Amino acid sequence: MSPMKNEAVADLVSNTLEELLDQVRGDRSGELADYIPQLAQVDPEGLALSVVSSTGRIYAVGDHDQHFTLQSASKPFVYALALSQRGPDVVHERVGYEPSGEPFNAISLDAEGRPANPMINAGAIVTSSLIEGATPDARFEAIRHCVSAFAGRELELDEAVYASETATGHRNRALANLALAAGTLDRTVIDATDVYFRQCSLKVTATDLAVMGATLSNNGVNPLTGVQVMTPEVVRRTLAIMLSCGMYNYSGYWMNDVGLPAKSGVGGGIVAVSPGKFGVGTYSPRLDPSGSSVRGVAALRLMSNQLGLHLLNHPSEAAASFNADDSSFDNLILRMRGELDFACVERIVHELSEHGDTIKSVHMDLGESTAVVPTARGMLKDLQEVLAHEDIPITIDDPRDFIETEPHLKAPEPHVADAHAPLPENQ
Ligand code: DON
Repeated sequence: MSPMKNEAVADLVSNTLEELLDQVRGDRSGELADYIPQLAQVDPEGLALSVVSSTGRIYAVGDHDQHFTLQSASKPFVYALALSQRGPDVVHERVGYEPSGEPFNAISLDAEGRPANPMINAGAIVTSSLIEGATPDARFEAIRHCVSAFAGRELELDEAVYASETATGHRNRALANLALAAGTLDRTVIDATDVYFRQCSLKVTATDLAVMGATLSNNGVNPLTGVQVMTPEVVRRTLAIMLSCGMYNYSGYWMNDVGLPAKSGVGGGIVAVSPGKFGVGTYSPRLDPSGSSVRGVAALRLMSNQLGLHLLNHPSEAAASFNADDSSFDNLILRMRGELDFACVERIVHELSEHGDTIKSVHMDLGESTAVVPTARGMLKDLQEVLAHEDIPITIDDPRDFIETEPHLKAPEPHVADAHAPLPENQ
């Protein structure tokens, strides 16, 4: 007989994400994108957060089944496809690697006629034009097929948004004209921008974005379908460009404060990646002046801070891991090592929920733990309560008092130059 799921334990991860979303829900600042008129038609209140682990477990809260268009969040995935078809040398003859420090729609061409990077519009139009295929339809189908493989399902075009951008995308056509004049674009302006407008108009949900991110986090293998969508080398290059250029003129700040490869889109989505751990998708359509979702940015800042996700956090500490001494799960002994982060506690919660009906007692040994990130601490406390409520005795050996004392991570100083609210004290 397969063990029953313990729902109260299983809900601990989603509850944590709900609490996170609650912290940003009240922020109604920012504006809907209206330079593509159809994007101004959406409900501004939509709000969603999805997390998909590199092993394929899905946690989705808020309006996670609401559809929106990928917009610039398509750029890293099309860049990955261009790299895999043409190789980095060919791609980077046409488009640079460097953060531009400029807005997404900036006129950007270096001395060799290359846009600064593939994440700004000029570079993305050139990158998209490198996709193989004799016609715009064939090139778009190749892109749709690839992005769908990242998402693990067939994605469709939002015809109304595509028509709206085609009718108003004069600046993008101007950028394509400049690339053509510089000898960087081999397609006609109309063909190149048409494929680019269509890739931007693919419809996704926050959970699709999280699966796409999880595929990157899992070295290019979609954890839901098992399909190897990209090679590890292409994934590494894609994550590097997302990390350095994904948030436009906000990228340096993002690197400091959030420290995760990410890409935003004016449709309101953001995809972020915690390599080896999970992908994150957020949705909220009001945008900041740089064209990124206000509440998405705020949620990812909180996640990075509270879940300890910054890539450069504690590089000298051992990676979080745990091992269970009793594989029968009757009297479970969990020995924790290294920094206990969200991903580690998520695995513990998953195992306990899967074996909820067979567990008679739990002992946690934090003797070899070096740190516990704030959210993991909260989740372990909640876990203690849930197990006590279910009459499962739990003992915790915590010689350094990680669970009872205040978290070791402090909120970063608020950044004065950006429009976003400072983080609350003591996450
Ligand atoms: O090309 C454009 O302007 C849009 N299709 C995409 C721009 C975008 O999403 C910028 N990102 N945050």
